[in-house]
Amino acid sequence: MDGKVVYQGKTKEGKEFEIRYPKKDDATTLCDYINALSQERTYIRFQGEIIKVEDEVEFINSQLEKINNNNGVLLLVVCEGEIIGCSGVEMKDKTESHEGVLGISIAKDFRGEGIGKKFMEAILKEAQDNIPQLRLITLGVFGDNDLALNMYPKFGFVEYGRLPGGSLHNGNYVDHICMYKKVR
Ligand SMILES: CC(C)(COP(=O)(O)OP(=O)(O)OC[C@H]1O[C@@H](n2cnc3c(N)ncnc32)[C@H](O)[C@@H]1OP(=O)(O)O)[C@@H](O)C(=O)NCCC(=O)NCCS
Repeated sequence: MDGKVVYQGKTKEGKEFEIRYPKKDDATTLCDYINALSQERTYIRFQGEIIKVEDEVEFINSQLEKINNNNGVLLLVVCEGEIIGCSGVEMKDKTESHEGVLGISIAKDFRGEGIGKKFMEAILKEAQDNIPQLRLITLGVFGDNDLALNMYPKFGFVEYGRLPGGSLHNGNYVDHICMYKKVR
């Protein structure tokens, strides 16, 4: 699967992008991507922490192993050699080994032009096609993330719980909203 392309399209400015599986040598570029999101303090769990390249190398290696064992999916959006999106389904274990946790992000300069929706379609398809034990996909959203809260129901996600003040975002305690989708 390493580097396999699953979708090709064009950005609003007409630049070509592809959605593909990661490769070992993506670690440095992915590290830059994650660090930019972390510094932005957007709606993700990293809020200013700096991720080291060696941690990213370990992350990619473990993800590639899971992908090759049909126990997880990680996809990247790549445009002109730059990573502009990252999405994964991370499988739980033991009594929850049929549950995959979804995460998704697009780089700031490329949001709001429909790439996220294409990316959602791709990650849901790849996860369903490649993880036979997957029955439920879950995710967590900050209560102040209006765009994501509007987008997920369009892909069949339903809220199943909410922890009031469960996430600290930009100095405010916002609700942590839990959503799920049954895939088989
Ligand atoms: C959430 C995210 C992945 C969506 O990707 P995207 O490329 O920006 O989204 P799209 O352009 O495909 O748009 C998705 C939906 O949101 C709507 N949307 C886009 N920009 C919007 C904006 N500025 N305000 C409100 N809604 C907006 C779109 O209308 C679209 O729905 P519709 O076309 O059915 O009306 C992306 O915005 C992102 O990475 N945000 C920061 C990190 C994050 O929030 N990750 C999710 C954590 S749960």
